[in-house]
Amino acid sequence: MKYNSDIFLQQTAGLLDETDGIAALANVSALLKLYMPEANWTGFYLVKDDLTVGPFQGKPACTHIPFSKGVCGRCWREKKVQRVDDVMQIKDHIACDSESRSELCVPVMVKERVVILIDLDAPVKHYFTEEHEKCMVRLSLLIAKAYTAHAWVF
Ligand code: SME
Repeated sequence: MKYNSDIFLQQTAGLLDETDGIAALANVSALLKLYMPEANWTGFYLVKDDLTVGPFQGKPACTHIPFSKGVCGRCWREKKVQRVDDVMQIKDHIACDSESRSELCVPVMVKERVVILIDLDAPVKHYFTEEHEKCMVRLSLLIAKAYTAHAWVF
């Protein structure tokens, strides 16, 4: 399937109309992989006492990531998108899959609090574009809306 952000987001909206948050995110992780087949990891980290791995497609990943570490930890701390063109340049990058070369991590914010991270890895440098970033920011807004509307609890 060729990447088309509008169609992707339309399909996502349907999957997010679901009261079970894990079920919804599992389907969205599968859709992310369909739209970005070159990505080697597409999924979510859930904000608990630390970042705890949520539904994803890809190789087994770190189960827990602390606030202080990694690209994901920085995304949580700074509440800002992290688009990393070359993960080898990031000192504390956590290599869950040694093939990963670039990464896009986007916070899902509810009432100024990060509740979920969208995390994507690709095995080539500079994979994630401005368009991917804009699309994932729109996805984060849809997820935040569903989280609130369905009172998801993890
Ligand atoms: N690379 C991330 C860890 C999560 S995996 O990529 C799935 C990081 O540095 O925080």
